[in-house]
Amino acid sequence: MTEYRRREPVITIDGPAGAGKSTAGRRLAERLGYRFIDTGALYRALAVAVEAAGLSPDADEAKLRAHLEGVDVRLQGDRLLLDGRDVTEEIRTPRISELTSRLTRLATVRAKITPLQRRAAATGGVVLEGRDTGTVVCPDAEVKFYMDARLDERARRRHAELRARGVPVDFGTVRAEIEARDTQDTTRALAPLRKADTAIEVDTSELTIEQVVERMLAEVVGRRRPAGPRAARRAGRA
Ligand code: DC
Repeated sequence: MTEYRRREPVITIDGPAGAGKSTAGRRLAERLGYRFIDTGALYRALAVAVEAAGLSPDADEAKLRAHLEGVDVRLQGDRLLLDGRDVTEEIRTPRISELTSRLTRLATVRAKITPLQRRAAATGGVVLEGRDTGTVVCPDAEVKFYMDARLDERARRRHAELRARGVPVDFGTVRAEIEARDTQDTTRALAPLRKADTAIEVDTSELTIEQVVERMLAEVVGRRRPAGPRAARRAGRA
């Protein structure tokens, strides 16, 4: 007899830039043996394609759509491929961050990327990180988190991260950029950044990454349901 198996949960993490979603999400996925999906990276890859084509987000949307139709974006393990080319490092510059934020306002852009994210999540056993993963991409996710931190703390982290990678930027510029992206991400008409009704809030301002991951793990474990009818029967007999 084939054992009925429920698919593993889908976990979403949304929140503003620099809240620690990516680092915490990756570690949470590792601890659970799940796949980690950085949804923003897929949008960033499109920004690289748009920039290379010399197009602007303010360009004619039909022209942009025609160009994006032919663009292939995929996550292969930890690497991000744009038309087969590895752009994993290239997408992390302040210029691409700014361009991505402007592009993500467009229906054409979201219509291309959202189905890729849904397909990647369909197997279950995934941690998705982004701005709309719990509200739009996977509204039925079993566990949703909304991660936030004070603006100064988020800017401090992003500044340190960029400096460590040798990107020469001053703190004030990083802070202003994050603030501008917050405004763009929360006020856009399509899939704006907001906390899903059932999302668990985690303020990471005063927490270490280990504390954040432990807190999330406790929530996930606490919500795990039995694996299927057999397990449910066993649980009932216990
Ligand atoms: O998380 P990130 O900084 O790599 O995201 C880049 C941009 O993409 C950011 O402006 C927010 C946007 N984004 C989005 O609109 N929806 C997502 N699911 C993920 C990111």
